[in-house]
Amino acid sequence: MPDVQPLLEELSNAYGPSGFEGPVRAIVRRELTPLADAIETDGLGSLIARLGPADGHPRVMLTAHMDELGLMVRRITDEGYVKFQPLGGWLDQAIVNQRWMVLTHAGPVLGVTGIKTVHVMTPKAREKLFERDDLFLDVGAHDKRDAEERLGIRPGDAIVPDSRFAPLAGGELYLGKAWDDRVGVAVMIEVMRELRAGAPGPATTFAVATVQEEIGLRGAETSAYAVEPDLGINLESGVAGDYPGITPDEAQERLGHGPGLFLHDSSMLPNLLLRDFVIDVAGDLDIPLQFNVLTGYGQDGAAMQRSRRGAPTVNIVVPTRYLHSHTGVIARSDVEQAIRLVAEIVRRMDEGTLAALRDFS
Ligand code: CO
Repeated sequence: MPDVQPLLEELSNAYGPSGFEGPVRAIVRRELTPLADAIETDGLGSLIARLGPADGHPRVMLTAHMDELGLMVRRITDEGYVKFQPLGGWLDQAIVNQRWMVLTHAGPVLGVTGIKTVHVMTPKAREKLFERDDLFLDVGAHDKRDAEERLGIRPGDAIVPDSRFAPLAGGELYLGKAWDDRVGVAVMIEVMRELRAGAPGPATTFAVATVQEEIGLRGAETSAYAVEPDLGINLESGVAGDYPGITPDEAQERLGHGPGLFLHDSSMLPNLLLRDFVIDVAGDLDIPLQFNVLTGYGQDGAAMQRSRRGAPTVNIVVPTRYLHSHTGVIARSDVEQAIRLVAEIVRRMDEGTLAALRDFS
């Protein structure tokens, strides 16, 4: 298996909030072009790479979403501050006092979400949470006209976290933004590389990098219609529960203990036989597998599962700390194990196996 770090680093650093996935799509296209038999995009912008004959069966669909959480310029105040619309599920407190890039037609513009200084606050005010309607971005403009004309900022411009990739703990762990879901995108690309390099198996595999997941699984809906999958495997960032203040009842995965399999989230239940198939394959390969039963969370597998007449689907994840913030943490070994696991699941998927998974008699 090639070193996963360079691709993870490039994907994490790339700018791609929901609806503005272009730079990420360019990386995915570059990586998958030599590995796939055909590549197309659907009308919403998801990239669909096919490995195997167009009319082949089973049709296995892998999904990973390209978009990350961001903001969008709503308006510029007379004083030159930027007011914004959040894109995706932000905790308001995670937005405050961070660095951001406004993606303008003239290039990226750095800014900071300012925080009112404690020096002027009454003891009571210090206990208050920041509310999103009060938040703003300071781009250093003199006034509105300066922000518009010199810096090139316009309503509708995307705003993305400014947070660079770095290895942690000597390279065992990776720190960066947008692991949700660039780690899934990286796993999907490397699975296609494994399939292309070895025996790809009898299935026709579609690697689909979706758009607009964070605002309602929108890209998965249209791309699943296009692909007509017999079976779906969504690749996501999981929810690690291994840091202070989070309990095992909230999330059960731990970093460095292998890929995760979701058994429940608020958007989807896995197909039970496919769930057991994944467990069996992990056992055969001696890959440790973790489970997660979450109360919240939504993911693209839900759209695949409910496409057309329904498809057996699972969500396989790389455990991730601090999702939906400027900086998350993942473990290299979990990424590598997820790639091995998913490649083997795809390799073993033939017509008979699929028929058994889809049998509800
Ligand atoms: Co996600």
